[in-house]
Amino acid sequence: MPFNDLQSQIIALAASSASLEPTPAERSTWQVAADKLVGDFIDRLPTLKMFSPLQPMTLADFDREVAQNLSPELLLAAVKNGLTQVGILTGGAGHLGFIPGGGLYLGAVADHFAAAINAFTADAFSSPIAVHIHNQAIRWLANLIGYNESSWGDITSGGSQATLTALCVARDACGIKPRDYAITCVYLGEHTHHCCRKSLDILFAGDIQVREVPSINHVMDHARLANQIAIDIENGLKPWLIVATGGSTNLGLVDPISEIGSVAQKHKMWLHVDGAYGGFFKLCPETSALFSGLAEADSVVLDPHKGMFLPYGCGAVLFKDGTHLGRAFAATGSYLQDRNGEPNMLRSPMDYSMELTRPFRSLRLWLFIKVYGENILTNALSEKLLLARYACKQISAIENIVITSPLDLSIFAFHFEPPTGDSRDRNVCTKELLRRINSHSEVFLTSTLIDDLFVIRVAVLSFRTHIETIDSLIDIVSQESRLLAQNLESL
Ligand SMILES: Cc1ncc(COP(=O)(O)O)c(C=O)c1O
Repeated sequence: MPFNDLQSQIIALAASSASLEPTPAERSTWQVAADKLVGDFIDRLPTLKMFSPLQPMTLADFDREVAQNLSPELLLAAVKNGLTQVGILTGGAGHLGFIPGGGLYLGAVADHFAAAINAFTADAFSSPIAVHIHNQAIRWLANLIGYNESSWGDITSGGSQATLTALCVARDACGIKPRDYAITCVYLGEHTHHCCRKSLDILFAGDIQVREVPSINHVMDHARLANQIAIDIENGLKPWLIVATGGSTNLGLVDPISEIGSVAQKHKMWLHVDGAYGGFFKLCPETSALFSGLAEADSVVLDPHKGMFLPYGCGAVLFKDGTHLGRAFAATGSYLQDRNGEPNMLRSPMDYSMELTRPFRSLRLWLFIKVYGENILTNALSEKLLLARYACKQISAIENIVITSPLDLSIFAFHFEPPTGDSRDRNVCTKELLRRINSHSEVFLTSTLIDDLFVIRVAVLSFRTHIETIDSLIDIVSQESRLLAQNLESL
């Protein structure tokens, strides 16, 4: 192509690609419009249905609406309507199902800021300030666990990614090689989150032995764990990893971390603690003792997008000995050789992670600590603990309702027990009770199975949940279980 043609083509294309940079007026219009939509959403949250199922026409309606409008303001308005109308309102006060989400506005401000500036946060050469902030956030999390200066970690997209990182590092630190897989044993609990099995499947493709240690009172039975390990060693197997849970998703219960840690130490095994849901409750005076022994764990997962109420996309993994993390992910390429001049007092995230390019996730966490401080977080979590205790106490007093397990943190479960002499299946009754409770749409609860018993869970973790919502929940459960008891013949 002649040089002049090339130049004119480039100029013609630039006219088009230049539209990717909005004018200051456009930026302001979009920003104001987006913030108005968000403000409207947050202000209306108390009046919105906590859950609405997807109807057959909803997706087609949505597609029709967005096909007609192409301005960011109108597209975002359609998305906001869609998000409000179907699905769970994860940020709502009445969301008491699964593990409730957060969505602190301060976190959203941090995300907007981080995405618009788009610093390359992988290494200290490119963005020393971002890396300094990331490192401060890691150190704060490590201190929370009780780790000393030898510890290190990473901020990930969530608990599952953090778990995969932890188990990968554990494998390398314990020197587990493919030739050993068939004789190596990993010990999980009955209530271990499925992301641990998923991580093991990714890492070992089903080639290792995975033991599910039975529970006692719904937490890992450390005596049976010790027994099973002894049997496995006697049979020539190689136990190397125990996964304990610091707050199970099912019932919110904390495994006896200290006792499990003693078993791990005795056999020189790696102890991993999944504190994705519960770990931040270590801050609260009411529950910190449940986490004794946590600082002895080799690795711990926390989920700031749960226990710090941050927007989704913020998990964390911490290691007692941070050098294991550095060793597992040490790799580089010649295209990164200009990093040589980077300040060596800063640790670059890319040297401690599978990720190279990453969003500036730590900004939300750091901003939370700087703006609100640890005390506000502790008080907010203590409020959730007390709300769960209050709800559990009041609901346990309702006729035909039985609480399933003790209450450690901010989750408990209950089921409906048909009156004496009534032969109806209690699982069928409880399922119907759940349907009735959720039909109120002020609250949203979910269920689980505990030894084949269908139970309804109450999980309190939204920063927006206060006593008014819990009082409504108690009224709804009381009213619906009374109505159910009166109408059992309809089942
Ligand atoms: C105990 C526990 N571990 C791990 C996870 C997975 O975390 P994420 O959803 O952030 O990937 C969860 C999620 O609810 C959890 O409750």
